Amino acid sequence: MHILLIGSGGREHALAWKLAASNQVSQVTVAPGNAGMATEAKVSTIAIDVTDIDALEAFAQNQQVAMTVVGPEAPLVKGLVDRFVASKLPVIGPTKAAAQLEGSKDFAKQFMAEYDIPTAQFATFSDSADALAYLDTHPAPIVIKADGLAAGKGVVVAQTDEEARRAVHDMLDDKTFGAAGARVVIEEFLAGEEASFICLVDGKTALPLATSQDHKARNEGDLGPNTGGMGAYSPAPVVTPSVHDKVMQRIVNPTVRGMAKNGAPFTGFLYVGLMIDNAGDPRVIEYNARLGDPETQPLLMRLDSDLVDLFNAALAAELHDAEMIWSDDSAVGIVMAAGEYPAGSSRGEVIEGIDAADATGAKVFHAGTSHDEAGNTITAGGRILCVTARGSSVSQAKSLAETAANEIHWPNIHWRRDIGYRAVARDR
Ligand code: AMP
Ligand code: GLY
Repeated sequence: MHILLIGSGGREHALAWKLAASNQVSQVTVAPGNAGMATEAKVSTIAIDVTDIDALEAFAQNQQVAMTVVGPEAPLVKGLVDRFVASKLPVIGPTKAAAQLEGSKDFAKQFMAEYDIPTAQFATFSDSADALAYLDTHPAPIVIKADGLAAGKGVVVAQTDEEARRAVHDMLDDKTFGAAGARVVIEEFLAGEEASFICLVDGKTALPLATSQDHKARNEGDLGPNTGGMGAYSPAPVVTPSVHDKVMQRIVNPTVRGMAKNGAPFTGFLYVGLMIDNAGDPRVIEYNARLGDPETQPLLMRLDSDLVDLFNAALAAELHDAEMIWSDDSAVGIVMAAGEYPAGSSRGEVIEGIDAADATGAKVFHAGTSHDEAGNTITAGGRILCVTARGSSVSQAKSLAETAANEIHWPNIHWRRDIGYRAVARDR
């Protein structure tokens, strides 16, 4: 079968690699893809933008695409799945209405309030005077979030009242996030440890993937500005069996039931960003309507099931009878980024050592890469690679991923040497 995969990051390289490994798949076309994917057997790329729904639909119709898989949120929020469903094209992802769980923080918060799903206390504002008055009675630490999609950058965890007031002013008065920041959600600061909890959902049943955790901060020790994610690992030991049960009973199942009841059944990957407190009680920090990047890279390295079987079960609404088989191994993915990431975007630097890194047994997933005229693989800005390895523990997988990452060089490079440190401390 021919699969169309939409997206261009490390998450999509991992999906393309895993889908191509299925003996049911003859061809994976990635739109628009990146330079690394085309080196995979059975995988090619096509220059169609992820939000060009007309062109993607025409491609799926004209190229006998049996199934389309959507990686990033933008086409989901724009309604790609609604269009494909209307045209009877099988597609993995939520409709526009269901993707509002990610597309609007206010929608997500109202929904959680309606169904008693545990999350931080919140209030929503479009007027800065009202927001500032609220801050007078709600001191720091406190969290300010742009309502709409802001590429992971619309969240300020304010440690001081001054920072909180500045964030409100930036978003509501100075419109630093444009329309996405025309409303802000002000939210109670939650203490605890974060984890990513991702499920494949068919509208009625949620089948949880293995647990994972990513590192959103740029610098070692989880310091510095928020990014899309600097590395991830699976499993996340903070999600004990008891926490897992609570997440399913208190959060995931009520979410799936509530969305169906509200007439917007959720299909595709539901990502719940969790904060787990000292008592092991989980609360929702955010929903995403897609797989996490970089969580997908270590997760798919541990998945022993055929992803196509799981997608077919999801399309047939038969996930209640499906099973995901995971390796007992752990996996760690280390993101290698351009030096200034998440600010600026240097590009065009020649990347050396990818083959040597792959030769160590790790897998180098590409994100922001392209080719120059001489055929060199070069940086294309932002997150460049995700070097992912499996091992018998998080410590071992981390050390194998670092050995591979040490083979890779370009002049202006940045990566964290402490991915998975919480799990490593627990291994000891
Ligand atoms: P989000 O984009 O909503 O996932 O937020 C980005 C990051 O900000 C999260 O991964 C958390 O580290 C942090 N964060 C968001 N909301 C809260 C909260 N209510 N309390 C503490 N930290 C938060
Ligand atoms: N790694 C977090 C995300 O994909 O949003």
